[in-house]
Amino acid sequence: MPRPELSAEQRAVYERIEHTREHLFITGRAGTGKSTILNHLSWNTSKIIAVCAPTGVAALNVGGQTIHSLLRLPTGIIADHDLDQPAELKKMLAAIDTLVIDEISMVSADLMDAIDRSLRLARGKRHDPFGGAQIIMFGDPYQLPPVPPRDPHERAYFADTYRSLWFFDANVWKSAPLSTFELLEVHRQRDDRFKQILGAVRHGVVTEDQANELNAAGARPAPRDVITLATTNATVNRLNAQRLAEIKGSSLRAVAEINGEFRENTYPADEVLELKPGAQVMFLRNDPDGRWVNGTIGTVSRVSGTVWVEVDREEFEVEPMVWERYRYRYDSETKKLEKEVVAEFEQFPLRLAWAVTVHKSQGHTYDAAIVDLGPRAFSAGQTYVALSRVRSLDGLYLQRPLQPRDVIVDPNVVRFMRGKEETA
Ligand SMILES: Nc1ncnc2c1ncn2[C@@H]1O[C@H](COP(=O)(O)OP(=O)(O)OP(=O)(O)O)[C@@H](O)[C@H]1O
Ligand SMILES: [Mg+2]
Repeated sequence: MPRPELSAEQRAVYERIEHTREHLFITGRAGTGKSTILNHLSWNTSKIIAVCAPTGVAALNVGGQTIHSLLRLPTGIIADHDLDQPAELKKMLAAIDTLVIDEISMVSADLMDAIDRSLRLARGKRHDPFGGAQIIMFGDPYQLPPVPPRDPHERAYFADTYRSLWFFDANVWKSAPLSTFELLEVHRQRDDRFKQILGAVRHGVVTEDQANELNAAGARPAPRDVITLATTNATVNRLNAQRLAEIKGSSLRAVAEINGEFRENTYPADEVLELKPGAQVMFLRNDPDGRWVNGTIGTVSRVSGTVWVEVDREEFEVEPMVWERYRYRYDSETKKLEKEVVAEFEQFPLRLAWAVTVHKSQGHTYDAAIVDLGPRAFSAGQTYVALSRVRSLDGLYLQRPLQPRDVIVDPNVVRFMRGKEETA
């Protein structure tokens, strides 16, 4: 990621982080430079910081690790389960002044509380929020929310425990004060009209004129190499399969090995993965040896028995990996969530990547993108994230015109952000 000079408001945020120990939530519209400040902080701070983000792609964007890998947290809902902290992890967490988190909107209340508990435990300060560490969070709650749990037991646990899924409803905030700083100047886009339209999409107040203007601009046919941002995995898979079919040459067909109960729509990777040299791919898991992370893009270079992928001109042999699936059982009397491994899924940690989901595009800037909202956008912030990835209307291609129903704002976000304005 390039490192521009900070603007005055960005510098003010940086100084505030540097010179206080308060917990800060730095927010602002897409492209106001939240991740840019974070990158600047990584290079220039005199504090000892650790940088993380909820998804691999978002972590990659700011040179951090996922929250789960940094804190060695188990996947799924964590609730009050025991946290396993090896000595070197404890040492690392005891040593930091500040934990910095990007894309906080995708962090659930459960994960936020797990971060709190993990830091208390590692730092041996059970009664201090976050074990006395400073928490700096960057993100925009008008962008994508945490992924809601599918499992009815997990959903029941959430409903019983939290007001909403959002990080701001975590229990830790009942005892830890949080200050908010809102960035106002957008840097990703220059054109004022496009910025205005994006602002209207963010708040769900798009006028007919604005919609017409956006739809007219996006109606041109897209050049061939433009990446597609689609809402569903099904659309992403279909587009990728089309592109793969266009490549001539040898292919490898890898069938996943599945043991135990995995519902088909919860597979962590393709059951049947077809790859050819020349195919654009994305990694789905972090490499234990750190050669790639979840979200790294590469090109398949060879498929002779195993798979070789080229990333930044280096070629790596990729081996299949195992995903474990857990099941939770929520006991509403004891309010405890028990978990057990119920299934395993083994496959190469790769997926074709000519098209990606909007979810995976959060945090990125593209010169051009095709936005494919399918029959309708189905998550709060989804349309706003997709449209705000491109720098200008010239780079925006709409697979179909935007409809009023595509613009969804979560009332919990409005409640939280209003409250912030009042206390600011
Ligand atoms: N002060 C600045 N001067 C010039 N360009 C900037 C500045 N700050 C940010 N940018 C550019 O604007 C774009 C968006 O910045 P960045 O990704 O940091 O925004 P963000 O607030 O994290 O957005 P998102 O909410 O989408 O994650 C990037 O291309 C970045 O290089
Ligand atoms: Mg960002």
